[in-house]
Amino acid sequence: MIKQLKQYNFKRLWFILVVVIITTTIQSCATTGNKKVLYFAHSLPTSHPVHKGIMAMQESLNEKSGGKLQIKIFPDGQLGSEREALELLQIGSIAMTKVSASALSNFAPEYQITVIPYLFRDSEHLFRNLEGEVGKQLLEGGTEYLLRGICFYDAGARSFYTKDRPVNSPADLDGLKVRVQNDQMSVSMANSLGASATPMAFGELYTALQQNVVDGAENNIPSFVSSNHFEVCKYYIFDEHTMVPDVVIIGTKFWDLLSDQEKEWLEAAAKESVAKQKQYWAETVEENMKMLKEAGVEFIYPDKAPFVEKSKPVMERLMEDPKLKTIIDKINSN
Ligand code: GCU
Repeated sequence: MIKQLKQYNFKRLWFILVVVIITTTIQSCATTGNKKVLYFAHSLPTSHPVHKGIMAMQESLNEKSGGKLQIKIFPDGQLGSEREALELLQIGSIAMTKVSASALSNFAPEYQITVIPYLFRDSEHLFRNLEGEVGKQLLEGGTEYLLRGICFYDAGARSFYTKDRPVNSPADLDGLKVRVQNDQMSVSMANSLGASATPMAFGELYTALQQNVVDGAENNIPSFVSSNHFEVCKYYIFDEHTMVPDVVIIGTKFWDLLSDQEKEWLEAAAKESVAKQKQYWAETVEENMKMLKEAGVEFIYPDKAPFVEKSKPVMERLMEDPKLKTIIDKINSN
């Protein structure tokens, strides 16, 4: 245990050292002449439709500002996991990130509502809320935790996938070690459905699947494909338990340094990228589904009713918090 702790502390110290070196270099070259560069870290590969959305934002910002405000992207977890990226924003080492709303819920608890199983009825219901009053409240509410939300990206629906066991009902998840994201809601979601939730960072999952540390995981189709998890997992079960969006965040330390004009450029560029990202998403899902079939992945479409029923306590527990209950009621009645 002590040895493990020492190893963990060493790993963490090493990570901090590397990041400090990188970001010190970044800080010193972030403002040259009258040009500002916002460093943007995220954990997805460059083939992912969310990365393409970020590139659209980068391009549009460059155009709108005539090159005066730019984004430099560090994809693929180069600067660490989603949690680590959020910490870097809070201390002002980097300006921006894109994380799953699940990761954000560890910092800004209101985001927990986005991880409630079967809360959003479909994509239209999801975006009606995210692009309405509820979304605005979530994005702006992050400021209290030094993490200001800029926009939401489509991250589809998350479903289970397994190495060896076909899953047709929650009973089939019994005893199965399933990787989930590192937050309490994701753990409760998987446990409520009968799985044995194993939280870990996304970047560690491929090896964990290969080495049988876990028997499966859960994610949307583009992440299942771009991470190559489909090479190891041969069953994809469309139970679609959650629709956790991705969120683009800027640290308030950087946001507060931007002029009104720069803030306007950034917000307009983000808005444009949202529309494009949704299109990239839809196209990628279609291509990915074809490829997966050819690769021999079996799609299972289970009856969702028992999944809905078994996961109900997750929402009920959250409703005990009056602040969260107000948001959930708003979503349910919208
Ligand atoms: C999705 C999401 C990522 C997240 C990943 C995960 O793919 O877009 O931001 O890291 O899920 O399961 O950790």
